[in-house]
Amino acid sequence: MSIIISVADARHKIHAVAICQLMEDSAKIRGTGIAKREPAYIEKKMDEGKCIIALDKSEVIGFCYIESWEGQRYVANSGLIVHPDFRGTGIAKKIKEQIFILSKKLYPNASIFGITTSLQVMKINSDLGYKPVTFSELTQDAIFWKGCETCANFDILQRTNRKMCLCTGMLYKPSEVQEKKTKEDKLKAWNQLLHFLKIRTAIKATIIQRKTLNHEEQ
Ligand SMILES: CC(C)(COP(=O)(O)OP(=O)(O)OC[C@H]1O[C@@H](n2cnc3c(N)ncnc32)[C@H](O)[C@@H]1OP(=O)(O)O)[C@@H](O)C(=O)NCCC(=O)NCCS
Repeated sequence: MSIIISVADARHKIHAVAICQLMEDSAKIRGTGIAKREPAYIEKKMDEGKCIIALDKSEVIGFCYIESWEGQRYVANSGLIVHPDFRGTGIAKKIKEQIFILSKKLYPNASIFGITTSLQVMKINSDLGYKPVTFSELTQDAIFWKGCETCANFDILQRTNRKMCLCTGMLYKPSEVQEKKTKEDKLKAWNQLLHFLKIRTAIKATIIQRKTLNHEEQ
């Protein structure tokens, strides 16, 4: 394996279709959690220097990009994807570390956030210094939340007036975070997050149950 992870530029636009296909295939398999993206949008992000791409020789195997909201007050690292053949080998962690550094360079004062159902992503975010938060602490920009419309669980987000969904919101506030976290700090933060998730599981179960009942009634 000779994997190169770097900031994408115009030369990488040839991979935009493959990236969207990876995202779409993954969304189909999981049946949840990934907003649909178009190749033209990914190409624009590459032109702006706001993407991290992982290549194995000439094949794209991983990707993530930056979006800013509310006049750069918030930044999201979105569209994280790793090719199924390369998962579990630390690629996502490396991509997220690089996009995190790039986000802080481009938007030094912004709060960085993400919403995800993935435990792997929560673990990486937690190690980077993100904390779980309610959706009310994230951007309220309607265009960000519009991205959820293509998710299979959008009805839940609507039903809760955008207060909660199956995704967990996580936020990194530059002013509150210690830059150098020790292994012990990371473990403590991860255990706190697991505790938070346990409490949320009961709430989520109720939401899913309601969703199932609604489907049965229709
Ligand atoms: C989610 C995804 C990006 C993870 O990619 P990956 O390259 O397999 O992830 P990594 O190998 O870098 O693992 C990341 C971390 O998660 C940890 N991890 C793995 N399984 C875990 C689990 N069940 N619970 C908690 N942490 C877990 C790993 O140990 C690693 O942390 P560590 O290095 O501190 O040990 C990949 O599975 C994917 O593309 N999925 C489909 C798209 C998707 O869900 N994108 C996320 C949208 S928010």
